[in-house]
Amino acid sequence: MLRPWNEKDAKWLYFYARNPNVGPMAGWNPHQSREESLYIIQTVFSKKETYAITFKGKPIGCITLYVHPDGNYYWGDGNGEIGYWIGEQFWGQGITVEASKIILKHGFEDLKLKTIYATYQKQNKRSKRVLEKLGFKYYDEVEKLDVNYRSFKEIAMYLKGEDYL
Ligand SMILES: CC(C)(COP(=O)(O)OP(=O)(O)OC[C@H]1O[C@@H](n2cnc3c(N)ncnc32)[C@H](O)[C@@H]1OP(=O)(O)O)[C@@H](O)C(=O)NCCC(=O)NCCS
Repeated sequence: MLRPWNEKDAKWLYFYARNPNVGPMAGWNPHQSREESLYIIQTVFSKKETYAITFKGKPIGCITLYVHPDGNYYWGDGNGEIGYWIGEQFWGQGITVEASKIILKHGFEDLKLKTIYATYQKQNKRSKRVLEKLGFKYYDEVEKLDVNYRSFKEIAMYLKGEDYL
Protein backbone atom coordinates (compact mmCIF):
# COMPACT_ATOMS: atom_id res chain seq x y z
CA MET A 1 0.00 0.00 0.00
CA LEU A 2 2.98 2.37 0.59
CA ARG A 3 6.02 2.62 -1.65
CA PRO A 4 8.50 5.30 -2.77
CA TRP A 5 7.48 7.60 -5.62
CA ASN A 6 9.07 7.23 -9.04
CA GLU A 7 9.09 9.47 -12.10
CA LYS A 8 6.58 7.28 -13.96
CA ASP A 9 3.98 8.33 -11.36
CA ALA A 10 3.83 11.90 -12.72
CA LYS A 11 0.76 11.16 -14.83
CA TRP A 12 -1.20 9.88 -11.83
CA LEU A 13 0.05 12.55 -9.50
CA TYR A 14 -1.15 15.23 -11.91
CA PHE A 15 -4.51 13.48 -12.28
CA TYR A 16 -5.24 13.74 -8.53
CA ALA A 17 -3.21 16.81 -7.57
CA ARG A 18 -4.78 19.17 -10.12
CA ASN A 19 -8.05 18.95 -8.14
CA PRO A 20 -8.55 22.22 -6.17
CA ASN A 21 -10.25 20.28 -3.33
CA VAL A 22 -7.01 18.49 -2.44
CA GLY A 23 -3.85 20.66 -2.30
CA PRO A 24 -5.10 23.86 -0.66
CA MET A 25 -6.39 21.87 2.32
CA ALA A 26 -2.87 20.56 2.78
CA GLY A 27 -1.07 23.88 2.15
CA TRP A 28 -0.06 23.56 -1.53
CA ASN A 29 -1.45 24.77 -4.84
CA PRO A 30 -3.21 22.49 -7.35
CA HIS A 31 -0.74 21.20 -9.94
CA GLN A 32 -0.90 22.97 -13.31
CA SER A 33 0.75 20.36 -15.55
CA ARG A 34 2.26 16.89 -15.66
CA GLU A 35 5.68 18.56 -15.80
CA GLU A 36 5.01 20.28 -12.49
CA SER A 37 3.98 16.94 -10.96
CA LEU A 38 7.20 15.37 -12.23
CA TYR A 39 9.19 18.22 -10.68
CA ILE A 40 7.45 17.67 -7.34
CA ILE A 41 8.29 13.95 -7.47
CA GLN A 42 11.94 14.78 -8.19
CA THR A 43 12.33 17.48 -5.54
CA VAL A 44 9.75 17.00 -2.76
CA PHE A 45 8.58 13.38 -2.91
CA SER A 46 12.15 12.11 -3.23
CA LYS A 47 12.84 13.21 0.35
CA LYS A 48 13.08 10.83 3.30
CA GLU A 49 9.98 9.03 4.60
CA THR A 50 7.70 10.19 1.78
CA TYR A 51 5.58 7.45 0.26
CA ALA A 52 2.98 7.01 -2.44
CA ILE A 53 -0.28 5.53 -1.16
CA THR A 54 -1.18 3.01 -3.86
CA PHE A 55 -4.29 1.25 -5.09
CA LYS A 56 -3.70 -1.65 -7.50
CA GLY A 57 -0.09 -0.47 -7.81
CA LYS A 58 -0.98 3.06 -8.93
CA PRO A 59 -0.43 6.09 -6.68
CA ILE A 60 -3.61 7.70 -5.37
CA GLY A 61 -2.14 9.85 -2.61
CA CYS A 62 0.90 10.66 -0.51
CA ILE A 63 1.92 10.29 3.12
CA THR A 64 5.02 11.70 4.79
CA LEU A 65 6.61 11.34 8.18
CA TYR A 66 8.63 14.49 8.82
CA VAL A 67 11.50 14.21 11.25
CA HIS A 68 13.52 17.31 12.10
CA PRO A 69 15.18 19.00 10.15
CA ASP A 70 12.60 17.95 7.49
CA GLY A 71 9.20 19.57 7.65
CA ASN A 72 8.46 23.19 8.35
CA TYR A 73 7.80 23.01 12.08
CA TYR A 74 10.11 22.01 14.91
CA TRP A 75 8.35 19.65 17.33
CA GLY A 76 11.37 18.95 19.50
CA ASP A 77 14.10 16.32 19.15
CA GLY A 78 12.90 12.75 18.89
CA ASN A 79 9.46 13.76 17.65
CA GLY A 80 7.87 13.74 14.19
CA GLU A 81 4.89 14.90 12.19
CA ILE A 82 2.68 13.16 9.64
CA GLY A 83 1.06 14.77 6.61
CA TYR A 84 -1.16 13.11 3.99
CA TRP A 85 -3.63 13.53 1.16
CA ILE A 86 -5.46 11.22 -1.21
CA GLY A 87 -7.36 11.73 -4.47
CA GLU A 88 -10.94 12.81 -3.97
CA GLN A 89 -12.24 9.72 -5.77
CA PHE A 90 -10.96 7.65 -2.83
CA TRP A 91 -12.15 9.74 0.11
CA GLY A 92 -14.25 8.16 2.84
CA GLN A 93 -13.01 4.58 2.46
CA GLY A 94 -10.67 4.51 5.43
CA ILE A 95 -7.57 4.46 3.20
CA THR A 96 -5.81 7.35 4.95
CA VAL A 97 -6.36 5.77 8.36
CA GLU A 98 -4.84 2.50 7.12
CA ALA A 99 -1.87 4.26 5.49
CA SER A 100 -1.29 6.29 8.65
CA LYS A 101 -1.22 3.16 10.82
CA ILE A 102 1.65 1.79 8.73
CA ILE A 103 3.71 4.96 8.97
CA LEU A 104 2.99 5.51 12.68
CA LYS A 105 4.17 1.99 13.51
CA HIS A 106 7.33 2.63 11.47
CA GLY A 107 7.87 5.96 13.24
CA PHE A 108 7.48 4.60 16.75
CA GLU A 109 9.07 1.15 16.29
CA ASP A 110 11.85 1.68 13.75
CA LEU A 111 12.67 5.38 14.14
CA LYS A 112 11.98 5.32 17.91
CA LEU A 113 10.05 8.59 17.84
CA LYS A 114 8.50 9.63 21.14
CA THR A 115 5.55 11.69 19.90
CA ILE A 116 4.10 12.21 16.44
CA TYR A 117 2.12 15.36 15.65
CA ALA A 118 -0.24 16.31 12.83
CA THR A 119 -1.94 19.58 11.95
CA TYR A 120 -5.04 20.52 10.01
CA GLN A 121 -6.97 23.65 9.05
CA LYS A 122 -9.88 24.20 11.43
CA GLN A 123 -12.51 23.56 8.78
CA ASN A 124 -10.92 20.27 7.68
CA LYS A 125 -13.29 17.92 9.52
CA ARG A 126 -12.18 14.92 7.46
CA SER A 127 -8.58 15.24 8.56
CA LYS A 128 -9.64 15.83 12.16
CA ARG A 129 -11.67 12.61 11.99
CA VAL A 130 -8.72 10.64 10.55
CA LEU A 131 -6.58 11.74 13.50
CA GLU A 132 -9.27 10.98 16.09
CA LYS A 133 -9.69 7.50 14.67
CA LEU A 134 -5.94 6.97 15.11
CA GLY A 135 -6.09 8.08 18.75
CA PHE A 136 -4.55 11.55 18.35
CA LYS A 137 -5.48 14.14 20.99
CA TYR A 138 -5.72 17.94 20.88
CA TYR A 139 -2.38 19.69 21.42
CA ASP A 140 -2.64 23.39 20.52
CA GLU A 141 -3.15 25.90 17.75
CA VAL A 142 0.16 26.47 15.91
CA GLU A 143 1.37 28.95 13.31
CA LYS A 144 2.90 27.43 10.16
CA LEU A 145 4.11 28.63 6.75
CA ASP A 146 2.65 27.35 3.49
CA VAL A 147 4.68 26.70 0.33
CA ASN A 148 4.34 30.41 -0.54
CA TYR A 149 5.69 31.42 2.91
CA ARG A 150 2.33 32.79 4.01
CA SER A 151 1.68 32.21 7.68
CA PHE A 152 -1.50 30.44 8.73
CA LYS A 153 -2.88 28.84 11.87
CA GLU A 154 -3.65 25.15 12.21
CA ILE A 155 -4.92 22.85 14.91
CA ALA A 156 -2.22 20.45 16.10
CA MET A 157 -2.90 16.99 17.48
CA TYR A 158 -0.43 14.56 19.04
CA LEU A 159 0.00 10.83 19.62
CA LYS A 160 2.53 9.35 22.04
CA GLY A 161 4.29 6.10 21.12
CA GLU A 162 3.53 4.61 24.54
CA ASP A 163 -0.19 5.15 23.96
CA TYR A 164 -0.10 3.71 20.46
CA LEU A 165 2.03 0.58 20.57
C1 LIG B 1 -8.31 14.39 4.76
C2 LIG B 1 -8.21 13.17 3.87
C3 LIG B 1 -6.75 12.75 3.76
C4 LIG B 1 -9.05 12.04 4.49
O1 LIG B 1 -8.83 10.87 3.77
P1 LIG B 1 -9.86 9.64 3.76
O2 LIG B 1 -9.13 8.46 3.20
O3 LIG B 1 -11.12 10.06 3.13
O4 LIG B 1 -10.08 9.41 5.30
P2 LIG B 1 -10.82 8.19 5.97
O5 LIG B 1 -11.78 7.56 5.01
O6 LIG B 1 -9.75 7.30 6.55
O7 LIG B 1 -11.60 8.90 7.14
C5 LIG B 1 -12.40 10.06 6.88
C6 LIG B 1 -13.37 10.25 8.03
O8 LIG B 1 -13.94 11.55 7.93
C7 LIG B 1 -15.36 11.43 7.90
N1 LIG B 1 -15.89 12.52 7.11
C8 LIG B 1 -16.02 12.60 5.77
N2 LIG B 1 -16.56 13.79 5.44
C9 LIG B 1 -16.74 14.47 6.57
C10 LIG B 1 -17.24 15.78 6.90
N3 LIG B 1 -17.64 16.62 5.95
N4 LIG B 1 -17.27 16.14 8.20
C11 LIG B 1 -16.86 15.31 9.17
N5 LIG B 1 -16.35 14.06 8.93
C12 LIG B 1 -16.30 13.67 7.65
C13 LIG B 1 -15.58 10.08 7.27
O9 LIG B 1 -16.91 9.63 7.54
C14 LIG B 1 -14.53 9.26 7.98
O10 LIG B 1 -14.86 8.98 9.32
P3 LIG B 1 -15.67 7.64 9.76
O11 LIG B 1 -14.86 6.48 9.29
O12 LIG B 1 -15.76 7.75 11.23
O13 LIG B 1 -16.98 7.68 9.06
C15 LIG B 1 -8.76 13.45 2.43
O14 LIG B 1 -10.08 13.93 2.55
C16 LIG B 1 -7.92 14.45 1.67
O15 LIG B 1 -6.95 14.10 1.03
N6 LIG B 1 -8.30 15.74 1.73
C17 LIG B 1 -7.59 16.81 0.99
C18 LIG B 1 -6.16 17.03 1.52
C19 LIG B 1 -6.13 17.15 3.02
O16 LIG B 1 -7.02 17.70 3.63
N7 LIG B 1 -5.05 16.61 3.62
C20 LIG B 1 -4.86 16.70 5.05
C21 LIG B 1 -4.29 18.00 5.42
S1 LIG B 1 -4.22 18.17 7.18
